[in-house]
Amino acid sequence: MRFAGIDQGTTSTRALILDEAGALRIAHSVEHRQFYPQEGWVEHDPEELISNIKDCIAAVGAVDALGIDNQGESCLAWDAETKEALTPVLVWQDNRTINRITAMKAHGAEAETLARAKLPLDPYFSASKLGWIVENSDAAQQAHKRGTLRLGTTDAFFLDRLTGLGVTDVTTASRTSLMNLERQEWDQTLCDLFGVPIECLPQIVSTTGTFGAVSTEQGEVQVTASVVDQQAALYGFGCRAKGDAKITFGTGAFALMVTGTEIVYKPSLGLLPTLAWQLEGQDPVFALDGGVYTASAALNWAKALGLFHDFNEINAFSLASALEAGLVFVPALAGLGCPHWDPKARGLWAGLSIDHGPRDLVQSILEGVALRAAEVVEAMNACIPLNGALPIDGGMSKNPYFVQFLADVTGREIRPAAMPELTGFGTISLAASALGITLQTPAEFGAVQPNTDRSLPIERFTRAVEAAKAS
Ligand code: G3P
Repeated sequence: MRFAGIDQGTTSTRALILDEAGALRIAHSVEHRQFYPQEGWVEHDPEELISNIKDCIAAVGAVDALGIDNQGESCLAWDAETKEALTPVLVWQDNRTINRITAMKAHGAEAETLARAKLPLDPYFSASKLGWIVENSDAAQQAHKRGTLRLGTTDAFFLDRLTGLGVTDVTTASRTSLMNLERQEWDQTLCDLFGVPIECLPQIVSTTGTFGAVSTEQGEVQVTASVVDQQAALYGFGCRAKGDAKITFGTGAFALMVTGTEIVYKPSLGLLPTLAWQLEGQDPVFALDGGVYTASAALNWAKALGLFHDFNEINAFSLASALEAGLVFVPALAGLGCPHWDPKARGLWAGLSIDHGPRDLVQSILEGVALRAAEVVEAMNACIPLNGALPIDGGMSKNPYFVQFLADVTGREIRPAAMPELTGFGTISLAASALGITLQTPAEFGAVQPNTDRSLPIERFTRAVEAAKAS
């Protein structure tokens, strides 16, 4: 049998095929444009994303089942009849609703989001973005009057356009802050709080099952899985038991840990309880999530500034560490997520001196991302002990300096995946599971041990994080 996964991420759309012989290969990969119309706004063109997904599906050809993963909290409005997008995609990084969120916090609204969605009040989640659309988009308001307004995350829009079944899976719904996590239903109180008409939201369904068929030149392809990309990666890593965790170092760095059939909720630790997956007809499996919003985004920013020119240049450094030399970078370029939740925090360098050059700055950026990831790992481990070594993937997992520093600051064995497409593979695995087929993770992992005799002055970073906060 042949399976395919479409990984519709923040920067690119990729198609992965698992063929009859069990070989995995990328069939197509295409980047899309990022739009920054105002400070703090981040948008994608829905038509560009749909066109890229269609190209990916055409490239995979005939398959027995297809899965599609999505970029999580990113959302938009579209018309239920014409299926035309009414707004751009407001990307998860977009924080245009920051002032509204601050005002809502001042009125005590966070108690409701924490109690119902189990999420802090933050512009990251879809809820305030969808509320902004209802309040500010003429096209959305007109469609609402006509009774044809659809509001939702990108998965539901893609499916509505591709198969006509505009549903959302429970993992994606859990990222909106409009779903009651215990009941896995849209929550009227949360919808009212954010000004989102509940009747415009898509139906919530399990992660695997029937999502309709896409027409291709080779015939119809059944979509049997729809899932958030980070949850897909968790599944692709083969994490199944409570305490199994992974970190993907992409645009942001996202750590997820399986907590099993129970919701683990300790708000003081700043982690997000979320849905890991729900296989059709089975109980939901939950996870804890912790995000660092700018990981390779911080490196790409440094590259665009001309601090380095090629990623191969930053695999090794002459200084033992910038941190020990007194230079610290906090990668809060888009605010601070877990465990701080300060969307108004901003990135900073601390300890700059006249003899620091571009390479020192880049070294400190790599270290800052590792130190932030270590904060998330520590919070997770305080909730549920991590099972053994920590597997990682994503572009930064290929950087030996970064991986060793991550091992040293977490005090854990780090296992970088040799196979980079674990998100796409997880999506394929979920799609295959809908047909009763269980796939084994094909990933081979390296093993990088921590230097146990190394004592790093982490308190310098902790102090710098406090200085990066807005409040
Ligand atoms: O929460 C956002 C996350 O799901 C996006 O992941 O891989 O598309 O940057 P990625």
